[in-house]
Amino acid sequence: MKHLLSIKDLVKQEILDLTNFAQGIKKSPKKYATSAFEKNLLMMFEAPSLRTRISFETAMVQMGGDSINYHMEHSPWGHGKESIEDSAKTISRYVDIAMARIYSHEELVKFAASASVPIINAMTNFEHPCQTLGDLLTITEKKKKLKGLTLTYVGDSNNNVTNSLLYGCAKVGININIACPKRKEFSPVMSIVKEARTFAKKERSSVNIYNDVKKAVKNADIIYTDSWMSYRIPKAQKAKRIKVLKPFQVTKKVMSYAKKNAIFMHCLPAKRGLEVSADVIDSPQSVVFDQAENRLHTEKAILLWLLKG
Ligand code: CP
Repeated sequence: MKHLLSIKDLVKQEILDLTNFAQGIKKSPKKYATSAFEKNLLMMFEAPSLRTRISFETAMVQMGGDSINYHMEHSPWGHGKESIEDSAKTISRYVDIAMARIYSHEELVKFAASASVPIINAMTNFEHPCQTLGDLLTITEKKKKLKGLTLTYVGDSNNNVTNSLLYGCAKVGININIACPKRKEFSPVMSIVKEARTFAKKERSSVNIYNDVKKAVKNADIIYTDSWMSYRIPKAQKAKRIKVLKPFQVTKKVMSYAKKNAIFMHCLPAKRGLEVSADVIDSPQSVVFDQAENRLHTEKAILLWLLKG
């Protein structure tokens, strides 16, 4: 059974094929108007969502299929009353495919191992593969290539989006720089950096970690950031985090260190004045809403690819 749990599990050609397929779907959506006919997607959520929920549901509707939105607080599994394995076996008897936004990546892997339908990672504490695949489509559209570009991620780097970008960029030959505070809780996971470097070596690209924003951003084609307050971070930590992360805010000055035609990316939701200034996210360099739209086209490609088996 084919699943999409991590970008790490995809080979370079699969990533490029999915990006090309998504581009084709975006160009001719009507061609795929019945591609998911009589197919049902289960969407399981343990965390809030705007983009993921709406884009997956829209994808199914536009391809002639259906979806069920299920919050984990209604689930016996979520309440510890049913095993992950039994939950996976049960839902496999009802639906054709499922996606899950649950915190624990380990639990998602266990769930997928017992499912007999494809399972999509709609974001765990460890990875956000649908976001990165959509981002690679956006980069392809804006830069007309992937290999040889440099993407600099600025800010809190100890999160699922950074992990998926590390794997995704390294696999397709995008050089990736990370600019983050010199503290473990904001730094990328070193085992993932190590794996990304192995993938990058094959593509003759690089993975570099900096604590100096200017150095990290110099000559970058893409500047990327994400929320300083990811969904599970307690509000009580906000002031402390802002203090440490403030020098890593993406401002006009930070953008000026990058290439003149550099683009700004953010997976959203964003907080103007925290991880990014309003004059950057609302500037012509910003492609954040193209990114959000591309989630839809990419998820159609992912769904059809997995449904085809
Ligand atoms: N980027 C993203 O996954 O957005 P949501 O949390 O709104 O789904």
